[in-house]
This record gives sequence, C-alpha cells and structure tokens, in this order.
Amino acid sequence: MMQNILEKTLEDHRYWTKEGAVATYIPELSKQKIDALGIYVHEVNGEVYKAGDWNMPFTIQSISKIISFICVLQDNSIDTLYKKITVAPSSDGFNSIVNLETKNEHRPLNPMINSGAIACIELVRGNTLEEKYERILNMIRSLSNNPYIKVNESVYLSEKETGDRNRALAYFMKSTGTIETNVEELLDAYFRLCSIEVTCEDIASIAAVLANDGKGIIDGRELISKKICKTVKAVMTTCGLYDGSGEYAVSVGVPSKSGVGGGILAVSPGKMGIGVFGPSLDAKGNSIAGVKVLESLANKLDLSIF
Ligand code: DON
Repeated sequence: MMQNILEKTLEDHRYWTKEGAVATYIPELSKQKIDALGIYVHEVNGEVYKAGDWNMPFTIQSISKIISFICVLQDNSIDTLYKKITVAPSSDGFNSIVNLETKNEHRPLNPMINSGAIACIELVRGNTLEEKYERILNMIRSLSNNPYIKVNESVYLSEKETGDRNRALAYFMKSTGTIETNVEELLDAYFRLCSIEVTCEDIASIAAVLANDGKGIIDGRELISKKICKTVKAVMTTCGLYDGSGEYAVSVGVPSKSGVGGGILAVSPGKMGIGVFGPSLDAKGNSIAGVKVLESLANKLDLSIF
C-alpha cells in the first residue's frame, strides 16, 4: 500500500517541477536535471519504501545545518549557544544579511539560515576547523549509516569560487565578535559541508533516527539524546524552510529541513524519516515539487504533528 501511495504521489506532483527553477547562484547546481523527483521512506520499525529518483545523488546543502546544530548541542550548553546564535524564526531569505546589523545584538537569528550555520561550526568540538568539519561529517555518516558519504568536489569548488554572500556574512560576524576564528578556514568547512553528496536514502535514514528519539534503527543505540532531538525538531519546525516555514507548518506540519540541492529531510516523530529530492526550487529556495509531495503524503498518512 505504501509503495503505491509513494508512486502515485510522485506521478501526481511531477508537473510542479516545471513551475520552479534549479539553483544557479552556485553554477555547478544549474547542471541538475530539473524534472528529477524521488522519495525514500524509512520507518522506525525498519521497513523502507522508495520511488522515483530516490537513488540520484545530490548535494546536501542546508540540510547539513541540522547535523552541525546537533553537534553544537552535544558540545555546548544551550546558554553558551544563545550567547552567539538564537533560535528565532526569520522572515527573510536564507542568505539575508540585514538582520545581522539591525536585530538580536548582531547574533544570527537561528542555526538554519546561512549566518547561523556558519557561526555554528565554530562551536563544534575540535582543536582545528578541520577537526570540527570531520566531526560533523562523521556525524552525517553515522546517522545515515553510510560510511562512504563524501564531498562532491565540483560543487565544493563552485561554492568556494562564488560564495561571496557567505563571505560577507562571515566577515560581518567576525567584525561583531560572533565569529572569533579564521574566517576563510571556517567558510571552507561550511562550503565542504554544503557540498556533501547524499541520496534520498541517506537523508531519510538520518530523519529516521530523529523520528526514533535519537536511537539507531538497527541496534537501538542512542546516537543523539532525546532532549537534543526535541530541540532540533522544534527549530526545524519553526526555521527549517526559512521564511517558508510558517506556510509549510500549515500545509505539511512535519519538522523538516530543505537545501538548495533540492533535498528535503522530514521527520514524522515516532513513525518515519522521509527523504525527498527534486532540484526545481521555489522562490524561497525550497524544492517546489518536494513540498507538494510532502503535503500530499502528510495528508494521506495524517502525519501533521499539529
Ligand atoms: O550557502 C549557500 O547558499 C548554500 N550552500 C546552501 C543554501 C541552502 O541550501 C538554502 N536552502 N534552501
């Protein structure tokens, strides 16, 4: 039954890919196949279902921000975090610079937007930025249960070459003391994290751990504490789709995180992790067909948490 639902949902919503556009501000992403659409469902009982382009690789992009955030929460108290980054929703785009100057005592509003995610990396345990990066990459590998996950070098170089908005955000944060480390090294770690290549299966598997209160699906071992899972799901709900988070909470109602590579990682607590991929994006940088597929699935399976 689930298999039929997934296949029909993809078919019914594929036309939405024509309404959006692939990201072009990172030139390498503009090469993506615009009508690709895939889904992978990983239930907490271990059952898996997949349809469409579920095995097509794409870069994780901003979905890596939840893994950096998990590491930050494991390595710091919430009060230490709040001195640098808060968890307030933003009504501006993911790479907006304006709030850093005008709001929140120069702290990034939340860890899901670019400024907050760049600042988060510095708070992760590690003597060097390389060690901090490795810690986050290893967390992605362990939560997805895929030790082979690695960076897409072409996307990484493309990001590094063209990432001037992120440079502006990071240097501004250095000027206000939010960032204390070497900005170029920090950005290098950020660009690499965004360029990590995954499939729907990988992100669904990460989501399944969050859906399972932080315990591994196969062995039940605690990978993330229940308390941290709650914090991450709360911030995903309020900030995970940027300025689209409110509408998404109404239409889908499932804690989620999007990326400009076209992925959406969605967590249905106690039930399943879902990974969707469709590189055609809406104006806010979220997968246009991916959101529609998740809306339809959430309605059919009654997944909204509200
Ligand atoms: O830094 C950037 O702009 C990208 N590497 C990531 C942005 C992103 O994924 C926003 N997501 N919807």
